Amino acid sequence: MKFTYIHGDITRGIYGAIVNAANPTLLGGGGVDGAIHRAVGPKLREYCKTLPEISPGVRCPVGGVVVTSAGGLSCLYVFHTVGPIFPAGRDPCFHGEQVSTNPKVELAKCIQGCLVSAERLGVKTIAFPAISCGVYGCPISVFAKVFWDVLRERDWNLQEVTLVLFEEVDYRMFEVTWGMLTTQKLEVEDPDPADFPGDEFDLF
Ligand code: APR
Repeated sequence: MKFTYIHGDITRGIYGAIVNAANPTLLGGGGVDGAIHRAVGPKLREYCKTLPEISPGVRCPVGGVVVTSAGGLSCLYVFHTVGPIFPAGRDPCFHGEQVSTNPKVELAKCIQGCLVSAERLGVKTIAFPAISCGVYGCPISVFAKVFWDVLRERDWNLQEVTLVLFEEVDYRMFEVTWGMLTTQKLEVEDPDPADFPGDEFDLF
């Protein structure tokens, strides 16, 4: 499986599926959620409104994945996933927001869920945004480490995974982090947790 990361707009590529960083209502919002809803059109919100709520206002829990068609976008599916809210984050679109107690585990669940959905649907190319790295407050370096760990978990049955970074600063930060991660992989075994204070994998 090939992995690439690019600076761009996820609604403008050609992929089997694109991932949306949604909120639990699935009714759209700002950021990449707003961009995808605008690109697909009002039908997406109308369709999501028909989906059952698993609790008041919640159609997709944190870490879950809901698959919809992609309307006029040049892809087959949109995988809507709800990322965790990190301590620095908030959710302007969902008032039941809770800062996650284990955001890295929940972020990994989002990524794993989208890759499993792609395999199940026979999708061979998938594009991710930097889930939770906007209003949900995830640092790009933390996202990069979680993404790196999930991609290495097993041999995913896909041809290509693309990460689309919208902001130039995020693209540059990801580039630096990814370079360090891949170098770490080549030169040293996984670091001994005892060498790192706290529970963060301190890249800088
Ligand atoms: N293409 C790719 N990435 C994008 C695009 C786009 N068109 N627009 C924004 N992004 C990037 C942001 O720069 C950020 O790096 O997507 C990443 C995720 O940021 P948000 O969209 O704010 O998503 P998130 O942090 O997961 O917060 C989700 O925001 O939009 C609302 O409804 C959404 O309430 C939910 C919350």
